[in-house]
Amino acid sequence: MPAIEIRPDIYWIGVNDRTTDLFEGMWPITEEGVSYNSYLILDEKKALIDITRNTQEANLLAQLQGRLDCHELDYIVVNHMEPDHTGALRVLRSLAPQATILCSAKAQAMLKDYYGITDNVQVVADGETLSLGKHQLQFHMIPFVHWPETMATYETTEKVLFSCDAFGGYGALRGSIFDDQAVDLAHYEREALRYYVNIVARFSQPTLNAIKKLGGIEIAVVAPSHGLIWRRDTKRIIELYRQWALLATNQPDPGVTLIYGSMYGNTEAMMNAVAQGISRAGVPVEIFNAARTHASYILPSVWTHSGVMIGAPTYEVGLFTPMAEQLRYIIEKRISNRKAAFFGSYGWSGGALKTAKQLVEPLKWEWVETLEFQGRATLEQLAEGEAFGYRFAESLKPQQGVIPQ
Ligand SMILES: Cc1cc2nc3c(=O)[nH]c(=O)nc-3n(C[C@H](O)[C@H](O)[C@H](O)COP(=O)(O)O)c2cc1C
Ligand SMILES: [Fe+2]
Ligand SMILES: [Fe+2]
Repeated sequence: MPAIEIRPDIYWIGVNDRTTDLFEGMWPITEEGVSYNSYLILDEKKALIDITRNTQEANLLAQLQGRLDCHELDYIVVNHMEPDHTGALRVLRSLAPQATILCSAKAQAMLKDYYGITDNVQVVADGETLSLGKHQLQFHMIPFVHWPETMATYETTEKVLFSCDAFGGYGALRGSIFDDQAVDLAHYEREALRYYVNIVARFSQPTLNAIKKLGGIEIAVVAPSHGLIWRRDTKRIIELYRQWALLATNQPDPGVTLIYGSMYGNTEAMMNAVAQGISRAGVPVEIFNAARTHASYILPSVWTHSGVMIGAPTYEVGLFTPMAEQLRYIIEKRISNRKAAFFGSYGWSGGALKTAKQLVEPLKWEWVETLEFQGRATLEQLAEGEAFGYRFAESLKPQQGVIPQ
């Protein structure tokens, strides 16, 4: 999509990336894609805000050159040094050496480390403003959303917040760039949650700090560097981010993420019985196969539900490897504050439960109940599993329910 004017003199000149399979080299986006939103302000002084990754430099240059000659650019605002926003900087610098890079003090050091850039860099301070003519830029440090050097840039005339990673999401833009034009807003919100949990979740406290800090600013447009631009309902994406950030410490709504793995179907049969019990209790349940689903898609469920149910067989006196891997992702994201239950089949020694408990020990989960069985579950054991699922689901409700006869 060629440049789109989002406010007088302010253009989106972003790039849709539909060829990168893994964001940050690890999170799948093959189906969804991602956008790197860059912005251009054409005033007396001309400023580019945020760049793009190295593989997209040709596309960004085409966007930019559709509006001005590189020699006319006065400023390049680097809100965040992560290479998804700066990879194309080396080429851009050689085409526009006259453009002064505006960034935080921490980003200045990183510019040298990543790109060997030391000259024509101007450090901006928190709250500092810079006039482009009719438009003014104001810089707000938002450390650790997502890196220590990160800042947001606010355009004071039109009240546009260029928030960089904050309020961003996965998903290439599907032909429209604004929230009010998005036909499937739920898709973007789902992908924003997945992005939040994959990329930002460890920095939930800095996110809350940033939201508080930016709270005093009147915002007409939220223009992040990934995903939709919000102008009809700017409060919506800020509130979603606030709610998600709060879940780092607060208990989420009742609901179960049921992650299971099974080599020969014994644990899977029990999983179906357990799921029946959870459903009978009327509690939402999301079911994932640990070996087939990337953690990227499971983590958002774990983040937003109060209960985690682990179903896995014993494998070499330990936990079924794909499950251990899923737990490692959950540990990495520090998803504590959850109620948990375990079930699984074993052949002779067992060991899956012990390993699972040891693994997630740092998260201090409350283990409500566990259910191990040998080989294939009998009908009686499956009925036990159903009741086990029911009890676990009930334990998540605000008031403990009673098991009907
Ligand atoms: C490669 C492999 C390693 C296993 N290692 C153990 C083990 O160390 N201890 C144990 O009790 N069972 C072990 N088992 C047996 C499984 O835990 C058992 O067959 C269980 O019923 C499998 O459940 P599933 O059908 O859900 O995969 C192993 C099975 C396989 C295939
Ligand atoms: Fe980032
Ligand atoms: Fe980013």
